Amino acid sequence: MSPVTVFLALALAALSPGPAASGTDLHAYWDGRCRDCHGDAGPFARNHLQVVEGRLAGRHHASGLATFLRQHYLSDDLVEPVMQMLQAQAGTDPLFKPKCGGCHGSAADFARKSLTLRGGVLVGRASGRPVREFLKAHGGLAPEQIAPLTSTLERVHREVGSP
Ligand code: HEC
Ligand code: HEC
Repeated sequence: MSPVTVFLALALAALSPGPAASGTDLHAYWDGRCRDCHGDAGPFARNHLQVVEGRLAGRHHASGLATFLRQHYLSDDLVEPVMQMLQAQAGTDPLFKPKCGGCHGSAADFARKSLTLRGGVLVGRASGRPVREFLKAHGGLAPEQIAPLTSTLERVHREVGSP
């Protein structure tokens, strides 16, 4: 394999959803076990964590974050999925909260209540319409914000373990 191919394979592996993410509501888990000390997950990830060479690193725990987390309130099987969630949050600008949160609350709640998959496509539960299409005329996004926000909602929908 060429270096470029290897790089792409690694990048794709890093993007794929975590093994234990299905079924467990990672956002509810965070809110129940981590939020009292750390606040909301998104701002915590953006303010205290960073992505270094494709890997999540803490400001205090620059390396060995996974080892630290195994002894820090997390059950072992959730260390990897929670780190993936935090990594995705650390690497994205907040868009849902400023643009949509005023009407729809938190992204996790919105994903639980109002979104579902139909044929692998994220759609609104009530309208049945693909989110990506719906947002062309709803929510006041700039055209270039629609794809990133749709991806964020696909991820959050996965992270809350919704069907
Ligand atoms: C009782 C309070 C408390 C709870 C509950 C708690 N934490 Fe922490 N957490 C801390 C403190 C204090 C630190 C800083 C300790 C250190 O750096 O050694 C920390 C550090 C961290 C760090 C590393 C930050 C850095 O800058 O390196 C991460 C990531 C983290 N916590 C995630 C979690 C997760 C995920 C949960 C829930 C499963 C959780 N914490 C629950 C108090 C808490
Ligand atoms: C001013 C309030 C408001 C804002 C801001 C807003 N929405 Fe909505 N949204 C609504 C209302 C009310 C509905 C239900 C009525 C409708 O279908 O238009 C809705 C419906 C939706 C639906 C369809 C849900 C379903 O069950 O079919 C999606 C998807 C959606 N909004 C996403 C977003 C996103 C993403 C943003 C931010 C970019 C956003 N909305 C911003 C008020 C708002």
